[in-house]
Amino acid sequence: MGIMIIDGKQIAQQFKEELRQQVTELSAQYGRKPCLDVIIVGENPASMSYVRSKIKATEYCGFDGELIQLPETTSQEELLRVIQERNNNDAVDGLLVQLPLPKHIDSQRVIETISPEKDVDGFHPTNVARLWLNQPTIVPCTPLGIMALLEQVGTPLEGRRAVVVGRSNIVGKPIAKLLLDKNCTVTIAHSRTADLAAVCREADILVVAVGRPHFITADMVKPGATVIDVGINRLPDGTLAGDVDYQSVAPIAGAITPVPGGVGPMTIAMLMRNTVNCFMHRNQ
Ligand code: GUN
Repeated sequence: MGIMIIDGKQIAQQFKEELRQQVTELSAQYGRKPCLDVIIVGENPASMSYVRSKIKATEYCGFDGELIQLPETTSQEELLRVIQERNNNDAVDGLLVQLPLPKHIDSQRVIETISPEKDVDGFHPTNVARLWLNQPTIVPCTPLGIMALLEQVGTPLEGRRAVVVGRSNIVGKPIAKLLLDKNCTVTIAHSRTADLAAVCREADILVVAVGRPHFITADMVKPGATVIDVGINRLPDGTLAGDVDYQSVAPIAGAITPVPGGVGPMTIAMLMRNTVNCFMHRNQ
């Protein structure tokens, strides 16, 4: 069994090319382009870098949009006002606020203020509920990107064991639901899981989103498993590391995503797709 390195960068590029083509046609049909507005509060370097990548992708896909940079000291009230203004602006199809937010701002309150129809992150409680009720909704971008990678690679899912390490609202919980919908038997493991290594070794599909560099080592992986590494950790020497110890795990995995160049680019491609879907929905 040879290792397969899943090239998320290339697969994301294919998605973006298809979207760009679709956007050309849709713009002609509807007389305007999809529009994504991105709000960032403060100057967290990682957040700034993610937001720049998102804006670059919107330009590539031929969207309109605006980057709204607010100072770290912005009050919650002011941020909510900016969101409301974009909610009420008919030219805006998608709106996201980059997380994390400064400590004086209640993130949940912010998420709940974004119009569910423009919530391209899929974080609004209405969209979360609709996901768990199997109703049409906007699904969070990273889980969508992971499912697209698994489909591209052809990993069988039906009846297989999936272990998700991490239980965040952004990744762990929604990816568990999407894998369940594909008839995986899903376990959500986390920092308090007893004998985590044994639980992970059961996984045919192992998805890791814990935000700790090199957390998953070779002894925690079943030979031949598909390993999806969601972590993006900046090491003291400035390099990026995933949550999976790639050096030791790659030789035993059946397929594995690298960091960088695995899940990250797919998140952005799916953000573009969610924006086009919001645009189409709002044009109906
Ligand atoms: N911070 C980390 N991941 C995300 C994401 O998917 N969306 C937003 N808005 N912020 C994030």
